[in-house]
Amino acid sequence: FRLPDPRNEPNPTYKRGSEERNKLEKALVKLRSQLPVQSNIVYDGVAQKSAESWDQPLPAEHGTVFTNYPLATKEQTKAAIESALKAKREWEETPFVDRAAIFLKAAELVTGPYRYDLIAATMLGQGKNIWQGEIDAAAELADFFRLNCNFAAEILERQPTRGSDGMWSRLDYRPLEGFVYAISPFNFTAIGGNLISGPALMGNVVVWKPSPSNVYASSLVYKILLEAGLPPNVVQFVTGDPETITDVALSHRDFAGLNFIGSSDVFRSLYGKIGEGIAKKSYREFPRVVAETSGKNFHLVHPSADIPSAVSHTIRGSFEYQGQKCSATSRLYLPESRAEEFFSALKAGVEDITMGNPEKDLEVFMGPVIHRRSFDKIKSVIDSCNKDPSVKLIAGGSYDDSVGFYVSPTVYQVDTPDHKLFNEEIFGPVLAVYVYPDSEWTCTLKKVDETGGGFALTGAVFAQDRRAIRQAEDALRYSAGNFYINCKTTAALIGQQSFGGSRSSGTNDKAGSSDTLRRFTSPRLIKEEF
Ligand code: SER
Repeated sequence: FRLPDPRNEPNPTYKRGSEERNKLEKALVKLRSQLPVQSNIVYDGVAQKSAESWDQPLPAEHGTVFTNYPLATKEQTKAAIESALKAKREWEETPFVDRAAIFLKAAELVTGPYRYDLIAATMLGQGKNIWQGEIDAAAELADFFRLNCNFAAEILERQPTRGSDGMWSRLDYRPLEGFVYAISPFNFTAIGGNLISGPALMGNVVVWKPSPSNVYASSLVYKILLEAGLPPNVVQFVTGDPETITDVALSHRDFAGLNFIGSSDVFRSLYGKIGEGIAKKSYREFPRVVAETSGKNFHLVHPSADIPSAVSHTIRGSFEYQGQKCSATSRLYLPESRAEEFFSALKAGVEDITMGNPEKDLEVFMGPVIHRRSFDKIKSVIDSCNKDPSVKLIAGGSYDDSVGFYVSPTVYQVDTPDHKLFNEEIFGPVLAVYVYPDSEWTCTLKKVDETGGGFALTGAVFAQDRRAIRQAEDALRYSAGNFYINCKTTAALIGQQSFGGSRSSGTNDKAGSSDTLRRFTSPRLIKEEF
């Protein structure tokens, strides 16, 4: 068989009056009229209730409940795991072409009948604008479903290449023996689709815990997969309190793999628990651990850079989706000789940024941040910077939570990159800038590597001088898992820029490539003599 050639889903323009814009507007009106939408725990193919539930408010209008969903109990989580294990054998024996066909069909459902419902859900639930909703919940989700089929096929085709007379050696890419536990973040609906489709395509069963702040859009993804023909028990959808669900999953004897995207702190605690489980021989097999976590991503500008282009990339990298992409630009190193030019263009660009409720004004560039906890954290950073004499406000520096969780695009200049603004992840629209003397380019390279709080997710150099690009590429070899030249730290395209960070930013197993799928296999070598 041959799979369809890899391709990225094209994005419609959503111009005023376009068909896609009309459809999206209708989907938004429909979803608004249904609020609060109900989400469910689903295992064994059946929606499950629970005595306790949570309400997620609209980030843009926190007085209104967006979705209500049940909190899974320990018993329900155990039952979900048992359902997954029950389905394992049959799923594993399902031919790869049939598994792939389900995900290819799901991609058609995402880009066809469900496109606008998914985008509307992500706009309301996550506070994204149309464009951010489109590139996430439509295009990237479909790309993950389609391209993970190609990545899986790449692995299954890998075989020992040298034969000799009288024997045959082959690799049987078995799935892991137990279940995979997938934890997806709030900020990309597509990521949930990736965390489950990769392992499932390799024949694994998955217990999926979506972020408490991305339950409804994730439940649509799950519904689409069932409609595409995924047998009900292959993936279980378990919503609720992360600690309760995680404790049960990580103490189960058949826990075989973690597929995680979220913060470094949460990951540290999960890794610690898994380590304890291994030490106590609690698991049948050594679990695979795959994680992509936090970042403090840099833009390094060289004196030779094209400044207008670097400014525009910096604005998009820092402020698109309110700085809530793990890849968002949050520290900027500027050469003294170009600082004035850069700052004046940056200020003008930031002043032009429109902010508001993306549901009400489809043209806004920035919406609200995700929730109260996030708003309060960013607010405390802004309050402390506004009082700190060593920090200079360049733009923004205000917030407003009277209706929704709004934070203005904010830029601060610090006098040393050792400042905490350069070393702590904020996960909001706050950019820190350090101006370095041009003569200290080499020292600055060292500083870029040494600051950033130990994270190494994404980073970019802006320069026209080829030698400077080479120096940055060499000196920053371990400073970022994704290194960009003359382009922003965000917007990796599936199948083109595989994605992941090292150091405190994750296990660097590269989402959007066969590398990450390979981690959810346990190959058996079979040698036969004739
Ligand atoms: N993959 C996204 C980006 O590159 C972040 O998760 O922006």
